[in-house]
Amino acid sequence: MTPIEWLESAGSTNSVLRDRAVRFGDAVATLHQTDGRGRVGRQWLDVPGRGLAISVALTWENPPALLTRIPLIAGAALIDAVTEIHGDNELWMKWPNDVYAAEKKIAGVLTEMPAPGTVIVGMGVNVGHTVDELPVDTASSLSVLGIDIDPAVLAEAWRRILVERVDTLDEPATHEWVASRLGWIGDDVRIEFPDGTSRTVTIIGIRADGALTVSSNGHTESIVAGDITRIRREP
Ligand code: BTN
Repeated sequence: MTPIEWLESAGSTNSVLRDRAVRFGDAVATLHQTDGRGRVGRQWLDVPGRGLAISVALTWENPPALLTRIPLIAGAALIDAVTEIHGDNELWMKWPNDVYAAEKKIAGVLTEMPAPGTVIVGMGVNVGHTVDELPVDTASSLSVLGIDIDPAVLAEAWRRILVERVDTLDEPATHEWVASRLGWIGDDVRIEFPDGTSRTVTIIGIRADGALTVSSNGHTESIVAGDITRIRREP
């Protein structure tokens, strides 16, 4: 696999790879992204030198069946990378593709498919931000958690674990590995759907394709897109 290419700065590392002829595992990273993109058209804000922005290209002649698992695999790979480098931690995955500690976001994933058989997986990680540097009070960083990690070491570990797991993407064991890192199971959440509507449901788990399995009023269903917020029960 080619070494990770480090850029002094980039508009969006996803866009850098999207505009290239890429091979499986090619990766671009920077600590200064000037036009970082988030899910559903949001921005991914940058404090120069504090956050890791990295994108990895995945390519296949015959793509696996369950490509929709990739965002969850990317999040789970970040948790395992931090565990490998630092040891035990409190990171967990918030469906569909965020990494959290307690109730605060540490990292987000943006996957894009610029061509059939090519997926670009982008990960933004709050690595070295102080509390004052965090863009919103619902965010945190590894350093605020007391986890001091060299972003270059984190980038190497994350890409390695990601591509290893993607090699077994369709296997049931990969589903178990992802599912065991998902948070808020059994909790009530409000789901906001892309069309602007919302509902309250209880999380059961995730389906093999990465959809969220929920129940409401005794009825079980799977949700493929939306944003979830936990509903706090009165003590
Ligand atoms: C989200 O939480 O909405 C997803 C954020 C994804 C940000 C990463 S940073 C690396 C890659 N390049 C981008 O422009 N976005 C992703």
